[in-house]
Amino acid sequence: MGDQVVVTDDGAVRIIRMNRPEKKNALTQPMYAAMTQALREADASAAIRCVVIAGVPGAFCAGADIAEFLESAKSGGLRPITLEFLKTLARNQKPIVAAVGGLAVGIGTTMLFHCDHVVASTDATFATPFSKLALIPEAASSLLAPLRMGYARAFAMLVMARPLSAAEAKEAGIVNTVVDAAAVDDTALKAAREIAALPAGAIAVARRLLRGNLDDVVRRIDTETMHFKDRLQSDEAQAAFTAFLTRKK
Ligand code: COA
Repeated sequence: MGDQVVVTDDGAVRIIRMNRPEKKNALTQPMYAAMTQALREADASAAIRCVVIAGVPGAFCAGADIAEFLESAKSGGLRPITLEFLKTLARNQKPIVAAVGGLAVGIGTTMLFHCDHVVASTDATFATPFSKLALIPEAASSLLAPLRMGYARAFAMLVMARPLSAAEAKEAGIVNTVVDAAAVDDTALKAAREIAALPAGAIAVARRLLRGNLDDVVRRIDTETMHFKDRLQSDEAQAAFTAFLTRKK
């Protein structure tokens, strides 16, 4: 896989770094699989007390790989590993800090609703162009975004596909801290170490209480997936994917 996901442990902090810079960290099936495994291991390990999800300079994640979307549509819908990743993220028990340097598109933004603390670079952009691709929101964002940001802002972001700047995302309650791009990883690691140093039992219970009913979240992922599958196979989505993949720069 050429290390498209790099997993390292720094004391009690597990760092999961998406590492496909040539495609701005667009997520492939092997990447979903590696991230799922890294999260599960962290959950099962008493030694790991916090997880950091990070990207590469300029790109946290450009969303799902659109070439794979085109393939998935032919084979009948979202691949099982994508769904497994979303559910693993939703049910994850260890606190997650996100280090968003630059682009956060599609699932690059919606995965943040499952994180507990988000550090972003001043130039970060949060975009969910589902409608432009004739798709619908995923990762339970249709449930979690209105709760987090209020309906009006969630509609503008998830349905009208209006991107948010780092400052706007902070204002909307998606981001905690905005720092220079060069300081994103260190600031996120510092926050993760701060969380890891707190009593693990209390953190686990408090987090569970704050996150609410995870069964509702997972059910919403299933419902979205059902609709996503139909949309993925629609002529309008196929045309949008092909337009992106054949665009002239
Ligand atoms: N799927 C597949 N390939 C992607 C991708 C994605 N989601 N995002 C970026 N890439 C590829 C580009 O096709 C390009 O590949 P190439 O060099 O072989 O042509 C490479 O990554 C670099 O991207 P590029 O578009 O040149 O960078 P940019 O800085 O000009 O723009 C984005 C970055 C993310 C704004 C732009 O690539 C984009 O809009 N990507 C699609 C995002 C998206 O819709 N994701 C799915 C959401 S549901």
